[in-house]
Amino acid sequence: MNKLAPSILAADFNILGEQIRQVSEAGANYLHIDVMDGVFVPSISFGFPLIESIRKETDIFFDCHLMITDPDRYLLNFAKAGADNITVHIEACKDPVETIKNIKSLGLKSGITLCPETPLKDIECVLDMVDMVLVMSVHPGFGGQAFLTSTFEKIENLKKMIDERGLNTDIEVDGGINLKNLRLVLDSGANVIVSGSSIFNGDILNNIREFKKIMK
Ligand code: DX5
Ligand code: ZN
Repeated sequence: MNKLAPSILAADFNILGEQIRQVSEAGANYLHIDVMDGVFVPSISFGFPLIESIRKETDIFFDCHLMITDPDRYLLNFAKAGADNITVHIEACKDPVETIKNIKSLGLKSGITLCPETPLKDIECVLDMVDMVLVMSVHPGFGGQAFLTSTFEKIENLKKMIDERGLNTDIEVDGGINLKNLRLVLDSGANVIVSGSSIFNGDILNNIREFKKIMK
């Protein structure tokens, strides 16, 4: 099943609770939560207090994308704050197999992600362990960037790797997805769609409706 995961990085934090309610009611499947540490990526976004706070108000699946160095240090904190899924960067893990085991042992879904310049072979070591692979279609760190077209081939190749292994792994894509390129992203093999600016800029309800029409 296709799933839509609005990224709250593009939300208006002044009315964050209200916007989360809007996207949930409009039929978003996941809430994509981008955590940045100012080290793995240049920017700093938000951390546990924000996640704990919004967890009190919604049951929607929290899809946490950790753009942080050595994420093992904080997995328990994210679990306690209310994460349903933790996705870590292959480039940020000392021992990716161990990190994925640790996420699973907390009873959470696990994901691995890779930067645009990182080859798919780098994630093979954890491919049969994770629930989801997140393919970055922009350089992580900021919302509102243009989708890198080299991502289409990467998604297709990942889909082949997953099918050849007889796995049922979700393919999530993140960065620069809009109503114009969404169909191509889905056709390449993705089934979980992250979008920040194209959902939160303008009329949120209408944006979600338009995304969902294409994702049916
Ligand atoms: C980038 C983040 C993305 C970003 C997506 O580092 O991981 O989730 O917020 O935003 P848009 O859709 O605006 O590219
Ligand atoms: Zn993200």
